[in-house]
Amino acid sequence: MTSNPPKTADELREAFLSYFEGHDHLRMPSASLIPAADPTLLLINSGMAQFKPYFSGEKEPPHPRVTTSQKCFRTTDIEEVGDDTHLTMFEMLGNFSFGNYFKKEACAWALDLLTNKFGLDPERLYYTVYTTDDEAENIWKELGIPADRIYRFGHEDNWWGPAGDEGVCGPSSEINYYRGSLDDVPAVDDPIRNGEWGPNYHDDFVELYNLVFTQFYRDLDGNDTVLPAKNIDTGMGFERMLAVLQGAPNVYETDAFRPIIAHVEQLSGKEWGQDTETDRAIRVVAEHSRSASFLIGDGVIPGNSGRGYVLRRLIRRGMLFGRELGVDTTMLSVVAKTVSDHMGHAYPELVGNYEFIKDVLEQEENSFSRTLEFGALVLAGMIHYRSENPDAAERIKDGKSLKTPAGDDGKSVGTRLAIAELERLVEAGNSDDIDEWRNIVSGTEAFVLYDTYGYPVEVTEEVAGEAELSVDRTGFEFAMETQRERGRAAGGFGGNADSTRVYEELGVEDTPFVGYETLVSETSIVAIVKDGQPVDSASEGDEVELILGETPFYAARGGQVGDTGSVVGEGVEISITDTLAPYGHVNVHYGTVTSGSLTKGAQVTATVDGDRRERIRRNHTATHLIHAALREIVGSHVRQAGSVVDPDRLRFDFTNMQALTRDQIKAVQDRVNEKIRLNRDVEVHWSTYGEAVEEGALAFFGDTYDNEVRTIKIDAPWSYELCGGTHMDHTGGIGTFVITSETGIGSGMRRLEAITGVASEEAIFERFGALDDIASKFRVPVSDASDRVDALANDLAQARKQVEQLEEQLLQASVGGGGANGSSNSFDIEVDGTSIHVEVSEVPASNVGALRKTGDHLKNQIGKGVVVLGSVIDGRPMVVVMATDDTVKAGVHSGNVARAIASRMGGGGGGSPAVAQAGGKNADQLQDALGATEEIIRESLNGGAGS
Ligand code: SER
Repeated sequence: MTSNPPKTADELREAFLSYFEGHDHLRMPSASLIPAADPTLLLINSGMAQFKPYFSGEKEPPHPRVTTSQKCFRTTDIEEVGDDTHLTMFEMLGNFSFGNYFKKEACAWALDLLTNKFGLDPERLYYTVYTTDDEAENIWKELGIPADRIYRFGHEDNWWGPAGDEGVCGPSSEINYYRGSLDDVPAVDDPIRNGEWGPNYHDDFVELYNLVFTQFYRDLDGNDTVLPAKNIDTGMGFERMLAVLQGAPNVYETDAFRPIIAHVEQLSGKEWGQDTETDRAIRVVAEHSRSASFLIGDGVIPGNSGRGYVLRRLIRRGMLFGRELGVDTTMLSVVAKTVSDHMGHAYPELVGNYEFIKDVLEQEENSFSRTLEFGALVLAGMIHYRSENPDAAERIKDGKSLKTPAGDDGKSVGTRLAIAELERLVEAGNSDDIDEWRNIVSGTEAFVLYDTYGYPVEVTEEVAGEAELSVDRTGFEFAMETQRERGRAAGGFGGNADSTRVYEELGVEDTPFVGYETLVSETSIVAIVKDGQPVDSASEGDEVELILGETPFYAARGGQVGDTGSVVGEGVEISITDTLAPYGHVNVHYGTVTSGSLTKGAQVTATVDGDRRERIRRNHTATHLIHAALREIVGSHVRQAGSVVDPDRLRFDFTNMQALTRDQIKAVQDRVNEKIRLNRDVEVHWSTYGEAVEEGALAFFGDTYDNEVRTIKIDAPWSYELCGGTHMDHTGGIGTFVITSETGIGSGMRRLEAITGVASEEAIFERFGALDDIASKFRVPVSDASDRVDALANDLAQARKQVEQLEEQLLQASVGGGGANGSSNSFDIEVDGTSIHVEVSEVPASNVGALRKTGDHLKNQIGKGVVVLGSVIDGRPMVVVMATDDTVKAGVHSGNVARAIASRMGGGGGGSPAVAQAGGKNADQLQDALGATEEIIRESLNGGAGS
């Protein structure tokens, strides 16, 4: 009988989980949104995702019945968020059976829970089953459900899975809730029930609870095979259920969202429930702040691909809707506090990582604000140029040049883009398009704004709309598509698949790896691949890929590079330069036959380069020490994001917002060296994935793990990781550990590089030597060397300044005032009755700056006229052309003059009417080019402005 139905979000979660605990289910925590061991899935999208290996039989579940409340993320719905039903992040309540109970129990408990525990009106519950699933239909009938409330649907609606590209799947039965008035329910025999009224047909129905009868495994090729055991996977949409229990019209008006909504209202000063558009914006900000917090809390960082891109889109979309609410500053990062306060008790990572979540959000919001600011300037440049230059098209047609600003500021960039667009249209010659230029921001422009300046096309539309311009959306989509195609053409997916296909086709078994215990193994050649084809033999000089019966060679994996060494048999030697596992666990040895010839099946001795392996081992164990030291010193939000472990150094990428301070770097280095001096045991254990992770072992997201996993413990729990790499037996052998650099590699991600053992010793010896060297050159102790270098640099800067000043004086003295220089020349040109004075000189300037300054000086000296100065700088001819205002008015265009001079020196040039510059290739041509100045200016005046 109905006993106190749950009222709040917390009560609902608890009621569900404890109901199934009461039926012998193990309550398990929500898995991270980042799939721990599933490369086919971007983000966890359902309760069952973390259990895929239990369903497929690959791993033993901790208990045959499990219940969870799982955070889920569905990326397909981002654009829908803001309506009544769609969420990106949501919670899913589920009960699961791994080869234990099946349909009968699942249906009976679902009905009992919904009606007796949650108090839902049985009259309002409607059921769907898969087209051919008589069994499920009969079970519902036996449970007392009238036939008219059971509907059948096909694959689209009543089949679930797989989550990701492969995995378990099966028919489902969904329980739907009817929210309409009971008076409106059509009669049982009303034909409207056939395709118009009912679950999946009508908006008054909400799907509450999905029971999946997981019976099949679908492989990557789409084939279904029957699973050894029948399973149950259920999912109840938590927020929807809550809305039904609370009689709320939508999820935002439940207590799952209310405090978050209230915070958005408070920050924006806008009130919920006034108008639809405002409500929508409030919902989007609240929802995206909530889901972004969850993503970051699980270690996702904004980026340009994969999960990082999903997060970036969320944050940006959230901000754009924030702007609609009139909030230009950071808002999502502020709302994150309420998310953490409100949901942290159920999802503690929101509290533990709160500072990190806030920082990541804030940084991304700030960077997007800057993006929007710059983009707005570029767009303003485009729009203003159009309104202020109505005659631009005519000028281009008349062959006149347009005034093109050169700056890097947004407005100049936008102006140039607008001019380029117009030039393109004039060239294409369609007069309608040219006329429309003034009123339309082109697809190309919108695309450049988006692609180069990160400015969303929706914002372009909005801003352009305010200035009464439209945006060519079709052209924009076309540009996007073209870009995507280019990306696809350049992407390396195909190549990779091709090179592994041969191993798939060879059908060889996984290679046993004996390299943890030994570096030498007596084994045999199982397969030889040459030029991508399997062959039976190979001879001296051939480049081959070998598969051995067993191997001591470690194949590159988990950041650790592959082993090198030799494979030697009777009369044959192969030098192995790399080992990889391109397909499954088949280890492939890449090398060259250095002598003799090789046949398939031959007995060989495989020997790993031991010295190199030793260096790799040191670096790998040191990587674990860094990871633990960082988490201890910088914070537990630090998560390994990637690593490279090779014989020469190690590289460790991790999530963290700020650069490490010098003190932090030192503290990490000290801590690692301390653990090395203590000579701790490096313990290796084998366990199951679930056990290890439960015990606190760190798994590296993005890697795949087998059922049995290898764990490495150093002073556990201080350092405890899942890892298949080769390690030292004791930390002492690592030797001295030195951090060589700490850099940023994109937002929220840092990179440490370090060296150990012999490499450290060598580096230290070299650094000492270099410092001693510097100090002895200054004849001071090492401790004073740095000050002396500063002093020297100061002196040098001053001396340079003096040289510059002297050069200027010298150059200025050499020009003008009738300067008696052999290569000076001055003359007057008559145009329409006015006379233009021209000074031409060759001077010995050492750089363009000096040449320009000399030009300025001469121009000031002559007051009116044109100055043309040339010089050979670094072996190349350079010329500056400057015209005073009145000569520009008279028609002189320095840019055109410079261009003509440049063409005589085999180079390029240009600039504004007042100042321009030309450069050439051949120093010998400078004098001739300068000599032609008079002719060039005359020609340009005749052909040009034509006053
Ligand atoms: N996996 C199913 C779903 O996501 C049931 O949990 O709906």
